[in-house]
Amino acid sequence: MSKLGVNIDHVATIRQARMTFEPDPVKAVHLCEIAGADSIVSHLREDRRHINDRDVKLIKEIINIRLNLEMSIAPEIVDIALKLVPDQVSLVPEKREEVTTEGGLDVVLKRNELKEIIRRFKDKGIVVNLFIDPEISQIDASLEVGSDAIELHTGSYANAADQSAVEDEFKKIVTATDYAKKHGLIVHAGHGLTYFNVKKIAGIKEIEELNIGHTIISRAVFVGLERAVKDMINLIKT
Ligand code: PXP
Repeated sequence: MSKLGVNIDHVATIRQARMTFEPDPVKAVHLCEIAGADSIVSHLREDRRHINDRDVKLIKEIINIRLNLEMSIAPEIVDIALKLVPDQVSLVPEKREEVTTEGGLDVVLKRNELKEIIRRFKDKGIVVNLFIDPEISQIDASLEVGSDAIELHTGSYANAADQSAVEDEFKKIVTATDYAKKHGLIVHAGHGLTYFNVKKIAGIKEIEELNIGHTIISRAVFVGLERAVKDMINLIKT
């Protein structure tokens, strides 16, 4: 059964729409915990478009479950993460002009830079997770740079145009999961998963945790956060 990491960034997106104090993503952490989430994900972007430095600092102080800090490998953000010491960092590519994280991290290309950064995180006891496309070359590179875990990008699966494309993308995720697991990596998955497409991915037993944000916060607008998180847990754990 997959665990659920709830990405609370979009609580902060609503706050930032008015540059005010509500809704507070720090309060969202508490409700996710009550609902049974296994971890909280938040992405401290370089442009601070949603989550900001105050949020991650307070979340770290009050959280009772695992904190998974999603982040780029920009030196400023790496320094903040090393001071914050979350339970896990999830390293992602980041472009200012993107609406959300578009592709996986190119670990093959950035292997030298990543080796050093990963070593610094591991020295602090922080679990390192690399967000990658479901490709064998990226998994091999993730092993080479010493990552503990990978998160398979499910965006292509989620956005597949028709059923045959869904099956193709699903197969890529299954193959990548098997390969990574066989080579000793912890496997997570996420991005673009919704109440409507999550069950197939949740059925891959080797995937330890699903990280899901937008769909949960969207449902929470209508039914409340606690109920929205519980609804997702019911889907992925049954
Ligand atoms: N995992 C990673 C690495 C992400 O970048 C995101 C988006 O912030 C998610 C999971 C969650 O994606 P979504 O909001 O589409 O559920």
